[in-house]
Amino acid sequence: MAETVSPVVVASVLPADFAELGSQVQEIEKAGVDRIQWDVMDGDFVPNITFGPDVIAACRGRVDIGFEAHLMVSEPDRMLTRWVEAGCEIVIVHAEATPHLHRTLGRIRELGARAGVALNPATPLAAVEHVLDLVDLLLVMTVNPGFGGQAYLAGMERKIAAARGEIDRRGLDIELEVDGGIGTTTIGGAARAGARVFCAGSALFARTMADSARALRTAAEEAIA
Ligand code: DX5
Repeated sequence: MAETVSPVVVASVLPADFAELGSQVQEIEKAGVDRIQWDVMDGDFVPNITFGPDVIAACRGRVDIGFEAHLMVSEPDRMLTRWVEAGCEIVIVHAEATPHLHRTLGRIRELGARAGVALNPATPLAAVEHVLDLVDLLLVMTVNPGFGGQAYLAGMERKIAAARGEIDRRGLDIELEVDGGIGTTTIGGAARAGARVFCAGSALFARTMADSARALRTAAEEAIA
């Protein structure tokens, strides 16, 4: 079982007002969220397009909070440097998006960022079994990527628990994150399964972000206790 660490709450910028991103990231930081996730989408790996590294770089100077780039893009190797230069301390690629995942993860670390890998709902944990030593963050998708506001896939809790078991059995220092449909009624299941990092969009933007962040943290802490 994961050691009792306080839950990490990550805000997805997907529901943010894209016309006011500079002030929105400041609001997220003020709300006490731990990190910001930039949901990068290319219209090919997922049927949606969001933003590139220049938008992230434009917001970097507005806040001190950590940035993670969730690359929902095909061929992520082409632009790895750009996300790090834009100010992302964590770069997350999808296991399904590159045939050379082992090399890609090593490259992210060489660039000075922490290496993350995300698994779509249909992708088994086995897809990353041989690269976990190169991983700093494992992101288990609890929705099919591409859009916010989708329903949480509780069936992913088996994969979350298996990932927690593998990480703890091998004594690996890997953050286990979930993303998709995370709210006060679903975070407990993910936390009990072993997740410790929780990415939320709709649930955080639904009302005052500070209240939403506090409610998520409390729900996760109660589930873990
Ligand atoms: C899926 C997106 C969403 C987003 C969070 O591609 O990555 O998971 O981060 O959206 P909510 O919290 O609204 O499900």
